[in-house]
Amino acid sequence: MQKLTIRCPDDMHLHLRDGAALARSVADSAQRFARAIVMPNLAQPVTTTAQALAYRKRILAALPAEMTFKPLMTLYLTETLSPDEIAVAQQSGHIHGIKLYPAGATTNAEFGVSRMERVYPVLAQMEKLGMPLLVHGEVVGPEVDAFDREAIFIERELAPLMVRFPELRIVFEHITTCEAVDFVRAGSAHLVATVTAHHLLLNRNALFTGGIRPHHYCLPLLKRESHRQALLAAATSGNPKFFLGTDSAPHARHAKESACGCAGIYTAHAAIELYAEAFAAAGALPRLEAFASQYGADFYGLSHNADSVTLEAVSCEVPTGLSFGAEEVVPFRAGEALAWRLCS
Ligand code: DOR
Ligand code: ZN
Repeated sequence: MQKLTIRCPDDMHLHLRDGAALARSVADSAQRFARAIVMPNLAQPVTTTAQALAYRKRILAALPAEMTFKPLMTLYLTETLSPDEIAVAQQSGHIHGIKLYPAGATTNAEFGVSRMERVYPVLAQMEKLGMPLLVHGEVVGPEVDAFDREAIFIERELAPLMVRFPELRIVFEHITTCEAVDFVRAGSAHLVATVTAHHLLLNRNALFTGGIRPHHYCLPLLKRESHRQALLAAATSGNPKFFLGTDSAPHARHAKESACGCAGIYTAHAAIELYAEAFAAAGALPRLEAFASQYGADFYGLSHNADSVTLEAVSCEVPTGLSFGAEEVVPFRAGEALAWRLCS
């Protein structure tokens, strides 16, 4: 049986949610990852260092006793965030990035930025202090085709931003297109990208297989096969600009299976297993460790984890539902097989 042991990975883009949901999300992530960059888009967004530190404590309180896990916190960029707060965040030692949501782009993004000029002073401060900007890279607006939002964001927002702030460190989060791959590859060393497991494994046909599939609805949307191939090539290329960020984003079953369902795919229950499957299919398993456990840490200036995890190529079935506070979350691959499993 094939086994793979790698240095313990980090998830550089994760939604843990809050309250009763944390018991599920924190335990699943901590079983596979040593650390995670935790997104701030709670219903009440995390906009101050004090709120982020309090959220961090709630996450740690939800961690099962025998597990270790380090939440790396972020702040939500609003048009009223002050440059001084960036300095406070930096000094706390617990805030590792500031998240830009274009207003209205995704879940709880209504507090985000509608005009970039309004956050220029904050971005200048971040550039000066070396605080990374984590970007949800999609334009919003009814005139833009939903599948083109990322490519148009690059032209309209990201490229001009990088000219204005050439030293700003930027993570282009959960990239989904060959345009994004090319842009990151060609960009300066300050520009990197995270890649999710679901965008490596699925193309947009998965939204419509035999009927509408709300559990495959996420933002940015799944794209056509040629884009998936470009992402897979980038992730498995050994280029340190591309690293692991799951964007695991749980919503209760009823919020997904709805006439207006929420965006987000829950992959935390099997995340490193799913990346192993994608890398194995590309014949690139030897490159998984650097993608999952080194490049992200290097960008964020963190040491590599000392422990390791072992995976074995044994098929196992994913439950049809998992407890999620008082609710249920439908995990990625529900009722279907995973190709790899974690050895305990
Ligand atoms: O699919 C998504 N879900 N994309 C995001 O950008 C946000 C996330 C969430 O928080 O549910
Ligand atoms: Zn996200």
